[in-house]
Amino acid sequence: MTPTPQRLDPALERLVRTMPKAELHIHIEGSLEPELIFALAERNGVALPYPDVETLRAAYAFSDLQSFLDIYYAGASVLRTEQDFFDMAWAYFERAHADAITRAEIFFDPQTHTERGVPFEAVIRGLSRACEQARAAFGIRASLILCFLRHLSEEAALATLEAARPWREHFIGVGLDSSEVGHPPEKFARVFEKARALGLHVVAHAGEEGPPEYIRNALDVLRAERIDHGVQALKDPALVARLAAERIPLTVCPLSNVKLCVFEDLSRHNLRELLDAGLVAMVNSDDPAYFGGYLNQNFVETFAALGLDAGHAYRLARNSFEASFASAEEKASDIAALDRHFEACGFAVPE
Ligand code: ADE
Ligand code: ZN
Repeated sequence: MTPTPQRLDPALERLVRTMPKAELHIHIEGSLEPELIFALAERNGVALPYPDVETLRAAYAFSDLQSFLDIYYAGASVLRTEQDFFDMAWAYFERAHADAITRAEIFFDPQTHTERGVPFEAVIRGLSRACEQARAAFGIRASLILCFLRHLSEEAALATLEAARPWREHFIGVGLDSSEVGHPPEKFARVFEKARALGLHVVAHAGEEGPPEYIRNALDVLRAERIDHGVQALKDPALVARLAAERIPLTVCPLSNVKLCVFEDLSRHNLRELLDAGLVAMVNSDDPAYFGGYLNQNFVETFAALGLDAGHAYRLARNSFEASFASAEEKASDIAALDRHFEACGFAVPE
């Protein structure tokens, strides 16, 4: 039986919206709102197969990951210049600031752009400049994670890593995204090994639609430090026990999972079970322009649907900081700020 969605208590909603938090799973191309797609299409003389914003938005009805990716790559085709990448990321940072995000580790998909002839340099310069400006204007500590498209070959991923090497200081890690099923982590063993040798952090999408085996192989073959999504892990109790014991973070994206039909509705989402199993899960927005909301929308809707409380809010925010790639000192300072916020809002800091 589906539980009746609850309305969030106003004090809990205020706490959740205003508490400091990190976002660790956001594809910057997935923050491209239809209005900006049309503005950039006009600026760059790109023809779109949709007459207007409303028609484009109406096409955001997905049946699975692939049906979304087809429209997501079409939307990204309007990005051409360094300024376009800056404008896209800046729009995200304004929303992130409004959602009390104080740290962000942001995915970008260079192959989506270099395949169309956009220089890697334009992508990375535009995004990096927005990250620097977000720190100056909002105090948001933002870093970039370069994702390889898993529907393309490992050779293409190796060439992308090579093209990115001169820009090594501008990103902190590599990830793996795009069509999951049929493109297992082991396809990218060599490129991830090279990335690790460069001192880059390593994450991978696994167990979004794909089986628990993909999560295991992301850990064992790619040596992923975090699993993006990972919600299919619950199908495999031994894997859950391992994820808990090794404290492998899962960057869970509730609204995305519902939009892409991984769960029938939010009340069926397994976030509560993941937390009850002792996993280091947290909430993220994935592709907020396509999935019905940014980070706080994910929090508020998920809390209402699953009946989560202030203890869950604390755990999710704390997990987001602990799972980040910040230094131990930065994490301690992020968590101290979270504790202060709970106390200032009149909520006890859980043990
Ligand atoms: N690229 C952008 N969003 C994605 C998702 N949810 N899964 C895989 N690849 C993606
Ligand atoms: Zn994702």
